[in-house]
Amino acid sequence: MIDNADISNAMKIHLEKIFRDLPEMPAFVPGVRRASKRSFTLTRAETALALKNALRYIPEKWHEKLAPEFLDELLTMGRIYGYRFRPPEKITGRPIDEYQGNCLEGKAFQVMIDNNLDVDIALYPYELVTYGETGQVCQNWMQYRLIKLYLEKLTRHQTLVVASGHPLGLFASSESAPRVIITNALMVGAFDDPDNWHRAVALGVANYGQMTAGGWMYIGPQGIVHGTYSTILNAGRAKLNIPPDSDLRGRLFVSSGLGGMSGAQGKAVEIANAVGIIAEVDGSRIQTRHEQQWVSVVADDPGKAFDLAEAYQDTQESRAIAFYGNIVDLLEYAVTHGKKIDLLSDQTSCHAVYEGGYCPQGLTFEARTELLEKDPETFKKHVDASLRHHYQLIKTLVDGGTYFFDYGNSFLKAVFDAGVNEICKNGQDPLDGFIFPSYVEDIMGPLLFDYGYGPFRWVCLSGKKEDLLMTDRAAMACIDPERRFQDRDNYMWIKDADKNNLVVGTQARILYQDAAGRMTIALRFNEMVRNHDIGPVMLGRDHHDTGGTDSPFRETANVKDGSNIMADMATHCFAGNAARGMSLVALHNGGGVGIGNAVNGGFGLVLDGSERVDGIIRSAIPWDVMGGVARRAWARNENSMETCIQYNRQRKGTDHITLPFIPDEDLVEDLVAGAFKR
Ligand SMILES: NC(=O)c1ccc[n+]([C@@H]2O[C@H](COP(=O)([O-])OP(=O)(O)OC[C@H]3O[C@@H](n4cnc5c(N)ncnc54)[C@H](O)[C@@H]3O)[C@@H](O)[C@H]2O)c1
Repeated sequence: MIDNADISNAMKIHLEKIFRDLPEMPAFVPGVRRASKRSFTLTRAETALALKNALRYIPEKWHEKLAPEFLDELLTMGRIYGYRFRPPEKITGRPIDEYQGNCLEGKAFQVMIDNNLDVDIALYPYELVTYGETGQVCQNWMQYRLIKLYLEKLTRHQTLVVASGHPLGLFASSESAPRVIITNALMVGAFDDPDNWHRAVALGVANYGQMTAGGWMYIGPQGIVHGTYSTILNAGRAKLNIPPDSDLRGRLFVSSGLGGMSGAQGKAVEIANAVGIIAEVDGSRIQTRHEQQWVSVVADDPGKAFDLAEAYQDTQESRAIAFYGNIVDLLEYAVTHGKKIDLLSDQTSCHAVYEGGYCPQGLTFEARTELLEKDPETFKKHVDASLRHHYQLIKTLVDGGTYFFDYGNSFLKAVFDAGVNEICKNGQDPLDGFIFPSYVEDIMGPLLFDYGYGPFRWVCLSGKKEDLLMTDRAAMACIDPERRFQDRDNYMWIKDADKNNLVVGTQARILYQDAAGRMTIALRFNEMVRNHDIGPVMLGRDHHDTGGTDSPFRETANVKDGSNIMADMATHCFAGNAARGMSLVALHNGGGVGIGNAVNGGFGLVLDGSERVDGIIRSAIPWDVMGGVARRAWARNENSMETCIQYNRQRKGTDHITLPFIPDEDLVEDLVAGAFKR
């Protein structure tokens, strides 16, 4: 019979190697945001299993002390976080030289993990949540400690395997293999649903990685600002006849939400030179964004907000105005007073509409919180009534020439759930989509992802601002702003990136680029590392990209050949990146849209200046992007077909993408009509 002494002796990496004695419980600093209690539905037997699962990390001599502590965490928080093992000092992504390790990659990933958990960056740092309410780096602090120790031990000839936050161990591989392979929340199909998911997380066998939280590549709010900037600018291009060499000056964008992601709207509006009114019911959120200078002015009545907007539009000044109040009140004013809105969206948290994500008209933020707690059924009725009215107002504005788009927040679905069938294209159910487009379906998909433009990013691991400035300039020199309007937008973005003061945490930058752009910039950066102009660089991207994510309601919403319910693309992207030697590869279930609704993946590549890394850049970066473009081309997306035709020409002899033949529409229609008549 194996006993715990045998187990302890068989491992060189376990918690006792870090702590001789059980650490003291670290202090919980007041004011640090905390996650609420998570759904807890475990039976008595399952609760015992969850406890045993957590104790697997703990040497036997501490079991008696920690078992009741863990049980208490499970019952009060719904999860076992192992708070006692949280570092008492401030976690922050430090310069790479301050980390221990046997290889550069091992040290680099410690920088990334610590940046994801920085108290100034993470949403609920004590619960290891980086962003998106539930997106965690790993499940608990025991895993955090062990992962860090494994990364210190990792060599260039090993791979660390992390399964839903659990470090399975180090396995021999080779220098050209990934150093870290991560999966998060991949569930067997028959069990891939929210109930089984909640059970698995409470049992301590699953981690919700969102996208870059569990993939260790989050860089703070900057990433979302660029995406929002690109979205609204391209909405203008596509729907307001704005010429390619211009921006949104003099145009009005109206939306709601100044929260986690939605808070980027104000900053993005100003960078795009537009005027924006963003409604927000929570005063504290407005205060944060105002202090941060992501909104310039605050107005507390709709009339004042529109007056200010009109004045700024007249002088073509770019300003984001926060309206302290409900978006429905703001739109009601616009309709009754005939105000002209060019672009309209919504970023209330409609993915959690009855849990407080959407504040109904007629209730203040405080009253909504009280009613939600006391009488959730009545609250739900208020939400439904408000959504129905909200929809009618949008419809009136759209009839008057406003362009409305859904911002991936499930707003259209929420309106449908509130009883509005006419919001569905088929007037019955959402199977054929909604009458208003979503931002990926109409804008990001065709204008960015189909060409391969996506959220490329990098972190200067030295922690030096000078390095970031040098990479900004180098990246700018790689872009030809005359090639396409997308290149011009990206050129403007990187030109002003430092001025816009977007860095929070490590010295990081986001820059939308296509396959060729990403490869050229990566090779240039690696050369700069080789020449000792800058320190090592971590390359990566958001998973919300051309090829990394299969998500029928978001990233692949404009894939219309029926394959948008398939997850082959994201899986191939992950496998192909691993095969080509990316330093880290990650594959997750869920992402921004919830468990079972998406499969998404990302990568990390450490630029060490070597020729080996040049080789990885040349094969892996184009693959990472073009796998997605090729799939979109096969779905007959025009811009992807054009991009692939060029690619086949440019990469003749090395790459070759299969393209679809296009049949005559009449031929197909006549034949099918005939067959169905019979
Ligand atoms: N920005 C993006 O790139 C992006 C991409 C995909 C999805 N989303 C979605 O956008 C939504 C918002 O994300 P978040 O992280 O900002 O959430 P959040 O909950 O932090 O912010 C939403 C804000 O809306 C405010 N609000 C709610 N009801 C309101 C109302 N009726 N009028 C005015 N304000 C109201 C809330 O007070 C809150 O501050 C989510 O559903 C998210 O999934 C955003």
